[in-house]
Amino acid sequence: MASIGILLFFTAIYIRTGNTNAGFVNVECQAEKVGQYGQQSLLQCVVKTTQDVVNPEIRVVTWTNETDHPLLVFHKGTSKPQQGYSFAEPSWNKRNMNVSLLITNTAVEHEGVYKCTVMTDSGDGEGSTSLKVTAKYNKPTIHSNPENITLNTNVTLMCNSDGGYPKGQLRWFNENNTESTNSSPMEAKQTESGLFNLSSNLSLLKGSIFTNYTCKVFNASGDKEEEATFEVQNPIPATQTEEELGPASKIVAPVVVIGSLIVGLLLALLIYRMRSQQARRHSTTPLMSDHRELPICDYDDGDHQERDKTCQVSPV
Ligand SMILES: *[C@@H]1O[C@H](CO)[C@@H](O)[C@H](O)[C@H]1NC(C)=O
Ligand SMILES: *[C@@H]1O[C@H](CO)[C@@H](O)[C@H](O)[C@H]1NC(C)=O
Ligand SMILES: *[C@@H]1O[C@H](CO)[C@@H](O)[C@H](O)[C@H]1NC(C)=O
Repeated sequence: MASIGILLFFTAIYIRTGNTNAGFVNVECQAEKVGQYGQQSLLQCVVKTTQDVVNPEIRVVTWTNETDHPLLVFHKGTSKPQQGYSFAEPSWNKRNMNVSLLITNTAVEHEGVYKCTVMTDSGDGEGSTSLKVTAKYNKPTIHSNPENITLNTNVTLMCNSDGGYPKGQLRWFNENNTESTNSSPMEAKQTESGLFNLSSNLSLLKGSIFTNYTCKVFNASGDKEEEATFEVQNPIPATQTEEELGPASKIVAPVVVIGSLIVGLLLALLIYRMRSQQARRHSTTPLMSDHRELPICDYDDGDHQERDKTCQVSPV
């Protein structure tokens, strides 16, 4: 039994050594890379050989994407890159084991798995890595509908944030930092560039209006990226609201104007009448004495009854 064990042991060593002697090439790549939209992305792969391989020389490098489309090929001493791809090492040559790929302007469409195949004079190897793309969302903007908020109307606040990737989330908070329940679901539209445009409406019911509403944008991992606060400018109390007084004031205002005009006219008429009456009284006194001549008083006739009557003293 012991001899079989020793035999197996040596056989194992023999196989290992045999493999090493044949030369072993490994392409070691970073598992995953997160690239920023619009920035450079470095997909790291390095060719590793066993110690016994001295001064290895690379003959072929092929970088392909998920659809096996060649992005960067080094073959027969020259490299043929597709636009936007290159070796990360500025002056890469066949003795450089760092075969990392550089994507110059990262876009959403660059997301995916990349494969790097390497052929050397000491053996071949293959490695793969994946790229995830992120883009930060822009500071949200908030608009209200209607623009002027009163306590007596229903208001909708509209929050927008764009330029982000992957799909994030918009959430509303009131000034107490408690999340406001959102009546309508968030909308996420993907633009041509692959970036998302998020929008969310918050309905404010009349009478339940806070002073501040904050719209926060969260990225796909649930981290807050940006926020914007909408301040409700002095919500007008219900008694003064345009909505309430609006139609009424439209009636009241002309009534007041017309009413005061009528009152003014009546007053003018009254004053005019009073003045003309006064004028008439002044002119009637001489008129009466002219036309109605009083009888001459005759005190000598002894008729006392006549004395009480109005008469004028006879001129002497
Ligand atoms: C490969 O080259 C790139 C560009 O020079 C460098 O940033 C990176 O660190 C290198 N990787 C290794 C493993 O040396
Ligand atoms: C907001 O918070 C303040 C202080 O904690 C509290 O007095 C107030 O009632 C809260 N408002 C609402 C509507 O929850
Ligand atoms: C979300 O934001 C955090 C903090 O800025 C960042 O570490 C993380 O990578 C972001 N995630 C995505 C998917 O953008």
